[in-house]
Amino acid sequence: MRTETTPVIRLEDYQPSPFVIERVELDVRLHPTTTRVTATLALKPNPKGRPDAPLVLDGDEVNLKGLSLDGRAIPAAEFEASAQGLTIAQPPRRPFTLTIETEIDPTANTQLMGLYRSSGNYCTQCEAEGFRRITYFLDRPDVMAVYTTRIEADRDEAPVLLGNGNPVEAGNIAGTNRHYAVWHDPHPKPAYLFALVGGRLGKVGKDFTTMSGRKVKLAVYVEPGKEERAAYALDALERSMRWDERVFGREYDLDEFNIVAVSDFNMGAMENKGLNIFNDKYVLASPETATDMDYANIEAIIAHEYFHNWSGNRVTCRDWFQLCLKEGLTVFRDQEFSSDERSRPVHRIAEVKTLRARQFSEDASPLAHPVRPTQYREINNFYTATVYEKGAEIVRMLKTIIGEADFRRGMDLYFDRCDGTAATVEDFLQAFSEVTGRDLSHFSHWYAQAGTPRVTIKGTYDEAAQTYRLDFTQATPATPGQPNKEPMAIPVALGLVAQDGRPLATSSDRVNAQGVFILDKASDSLTFTNVPSHPVPSVFRGFSAPVKTSLDLSNTELLVLLRHDSDAFNRWQAAQTVAMRLLVALSTGAAVTDADITGLSAALEMFIEDDAMRDPAFAALVLTLPSEADIAQEIAADVDPDAIHKARTELKRRIGSANIGQLWEFHQLLADLGPYSPDAASAGRRALRNVALDLIAGADKRLGERLAREQFDTAGNMTDRLASLSVLTTLPGAAREGALTQFSERYRDEPLVLDKWFALQATILEEGTLERVKGLMNHPAFSINNPNRVRSLVGSFAMANQMQFNRADGAGYAFLAEIVLRADELNPQLAARLLTAFSAWRMMEETRRKHAQQTLQAIAEHPNLSRDVSDIVNRSLE
Ligand code: PHE
Ligand code: ZN
Repeated sequence: MRTETTPVIRLEDYQPSPFVIERVELDVRLHPTTTRVTATLALKPNPKGRPDAPLVLDGDEVNLKGLSLDGRAIPAAEFEASAQGLTIAQPPRRPFTLTIETEIDPTANTQLMGLYRSSGNYCTQCEAEGFRRITYFLDRPDVMAVYTTRIEADRDEAPVLLGNGNPVEAGNIAGTNRHYAVWHDPHPKPAYLFALVGGRLGKVGKDFTTMSGRKVKLAVYVEPGKEERAAYALDALERSMRWDERVFGREYDLDEFNIVAVSDFNMGAMENKGLNIFNDKYVLASPETATDMDYANIEAIIAHEYFHNWSGNRVTCRDWFQLCLKEGLTVFRDQEFSSDERSRPVHRIAEVKTLRARQFSEDASPLAHPVRPTQYREINNFYTATVYEKGAEIVRMLKTIIGEADFRRGMDLYFDRCDGTAATVEDFLQAFSEVTGRDLSHFSHWYAQAGTPRVTIKGTYDEAAQTYRLDFTQATPATPGQPNKEPMAIPVALGLVAQDGRPLATSSDRVNAQGVFILDKASDSLTFTNVPSHPVPSVFRGFSAPVKTSLDLSNTELLVLLRHDSDAFNRWQAAQTVAMRLLVALSTGAAVTDADITGLSAALEMFIEDDAMRDPAFAALVLTLPSEADIAQEIAADVDPDAIHKARTELKRRIGSANIGQLWEFHQLLADLGPYSPDAASAGRRALRNVALDLIAGADKRLGERLAREQFDTAGNMTDRLASLSVLTTLPGAAREGALTQFSERYRDEPLVLDKWFALQATILEEGTLERVKGLMNHPAFSINNPNRVRSLVGSFAMANQMQFNRADGAGYAFLAEIVLRADELNPQLAARLLTAFSAWRMMEETRRKHAQQTLQAIAEHPNLSRDVSDIVNRSLE
C-alpha cells in the first residue's frame, strides 16, 4: 500500500478485537489471473471487545464479488468496501455468518505476499499481513479460528494440492479437467499461519512415529527432478522432531507435515501450520551444488520452522509487537539443536559472529529498536536481527541466570498454560518467575531497551592479601527515542587463569556454582579470595551476554587465554581481540610495532602446531581475522574503508607469511579423499583447509593462485570448488576470469549455484567491481523479480562489500538507490531490506557521509514510495 502519511501503530493502543472468528471455510478456485475465493466466516462479538464497534475487516488489493450475511446479500447501503477494507457499521450483536467472495490475480502478485505464483506453481505467504490479500479478514494474530480449505485447480496445472492440517477429501470434478482437495486444520490459528499450495511438484517422504505413538507422514515437495536434493532436508526434519521431543518434551500434532520449496520467496522460510513453505535455497542440497554452510543452514532452518509448531503456532503472539516471543525463542531453540547436532563451541562462535555483524551494527545505527518495539509504521521492517538474534540471546541469558532445570520447568509451564492462546512477553516471563520464585522485572529491560551495553572491567591483584578484585561498570548508549538507559541485568560467566595457563580454583560469594556473576547495577565489583598469583580473568565465557566489553588486559595476557583458557569461546575471542587491536591501529595510522605483529603471528604459529588439527573447525575460526565491517564497527566514527582494507590485507599477509609452510601442509593433509559427507567434522576439515589456502594466497600470490587453480579443477564438491574460486577472485588476472567463466558454464542451469557466482563477483574488493555488478544485472540468469538473485548480486555488493559499496565518489550509493527504487515498484519488502545497507552511513568519514545523506534524501523525496521503503529511509535519516 502506498500512502502519503502512514499511521504509527503503538503497543500501548492495543485493544482486543470487537469480534472473533471461530470457523473459516475457504473455497479457493485457482486460476492464473482470476482466482475466486469464497470465505465463509463464523463470527461473534468478543465479550472482551468494544460492544458497539463496527466490523472492520482488513483487505489489500482484493476485488469484492459478493457479500452475504447469514445467507442473505447485504444491501449496498449497509457496508462499505474498498481494496483496503470492508466495514459493516451495524453488524449483528450475536453469532452470525459472513460469506465473502473475492477475486485475486496471483500472476500479477510480484510482492510475494498473499497468493502468488513461483515457477508456475501457486503458493501463499501470509505473515505478517498477507491473508488480507486473499480475502477480507480480521487479519491480526489474536483472532484465531479453525480452518477448512477446499482448493480447486486444473489437474494439469496443479496436480498437487496442499493445505493446512489433515487431508479430508479429494476428487475430480466430473466432466471437467479440474480436481479438488479439502484440508481441515483442527488447531485454531491466526490467519498469518494459513497456507495453500497448488502445482507440479515431486516429493520425498517418510513415516514418523511420535513419542506417544502418533503416526505422521512427512514429505518435502520440490521441483520435479530435484527430489534427491531434498533428502538432507527430510533427514533434518526427522532429527528436529526427535530433538524437540527429547529436549523440550514437544510432540507433533497432525497426521501430516509437509514442506514445499519455492524459488521466489522474500525470506528464508515460513512456519504455516503443517505446511511449511521454504525458499528452495534452504531445502535443496547436493554435494555438487551446495556448500557445507548451505547444509548447516538447511538443517537450522528446517529445525527453526518445525520448532515454531510449538513456539509460534500452538502458542502464538497477541500482536506483532510480541514478534520476539516466537522468533527469539525459536532461534534460541534452533541454535540449541544445531549445537547438539554439531560442535557446541564452534556453533556458539558462529552465532556470535552473526550477532555482532548484523545485530550490534543495527543496534548502533539509526534503525536501532528494542527487541520488543513499542511502535512501528510497517511491521515487515521489524523482522530484524534485533528481534531474532538478540531475542534469542535474551532467552539464553534467562537460562544462564536461572539454570537448566528451572529453565525447562518454566518452558513446560509456558507451553502448557499458553497453549492455544495468543500470548505476550509478560506471559513468557511470568512462567519463569513462577517456577523460580524470582522477580524478573529488572531482567525484562532487555526487551525494552535498545542499544548494546558496554561493560568495562578492571582487575586489581593484591599479592599480600591474595585477592583479586574485578570492578565492573556498564553503560548503554542512547538510541532513537531512548536518550537515557537503566542498568541491565547482565550475566557474566567468568573464571581466572594463571599467567602460566593453569585454571585457578577460586571463589567469590558473588559468583554462583555455575561460575556466573550477575551485574545488575551501573557499577559493582567482586573479589576472589585465595588467589596465589596475578591471574588473567576470562570474562563472558561462552559469550554469556550480548554486550561489548572493554578489558584492560595486555596482548600477552590475552594470548595466554588463547593458549590455555578452558572456555573455547574465549580462546577464540582472545585471538580476535588482539587482531582487532592491531587492525584498528593499522587502519587509523596509530603506532604498531613489529613486535606487536610478531606477537600475534607467533601465538598463532604455536596454536597451529599444537591445536589446529585437534579441532579443525575451531582452528579455522581462530585463523580468520575480523572482517572489514567488524573493524569499521570497532572504529565507529570517521571510518575510511580503504584504509581498513589495506590494514587487513597487510595483517593477513604477515600472518600468512609467518606460517606459510604449515599452512601449505594443512592444505595437502586435509584434502578430501573419500566421498563427500556434510557432517560437522568433515566440514571442519574443509574449513581449515580453505582458510589455509586463503592465507597462503594473501602471503604468496603465485603459490596461492597455483593451489587454488588446482583445487578448482579437482574439487569433488561445491565447498572446495567455491572456496578455491573465492580465493581466485582475490587475484586479478586471466586465471580468475577463466575460472569464473568455466564455473558459470558448468552451472548454467543451476540458479542457486549462479547466485554464489553473482555474490562472489559482487564482493571483489576492487575498483572495477561496481562496473562488473552493473554488467551482471544484464546477465540472462539475473532477474529483478527474483529475491534470491537480487540479494546475491545487489545485496552482496551493498552488504558484504564495505569497501566498494562505500566508494569515496558515492557511485556505490547511487547504484543501490537506483535498484531500490526499481525493486520498490515490484516488491517493497525486498527493496526495504536492500536499503538497510545504508544503516552504517553516519559512521563514515565526511565525504562518504555526505554522499550517503544526499542519496538517502533523494530516495526520501521520490514520489510513490512503498510504506516499507519510506519507513526505512526516514528512520535512516532521523
Ligand atoms: N516467520 C518466518 C520465520 O520463521 C519468517 C517470515 C516472516 C517469513 C515473514 C515470511 C514472511 O522466521
Ligand atoms: Zn521464525
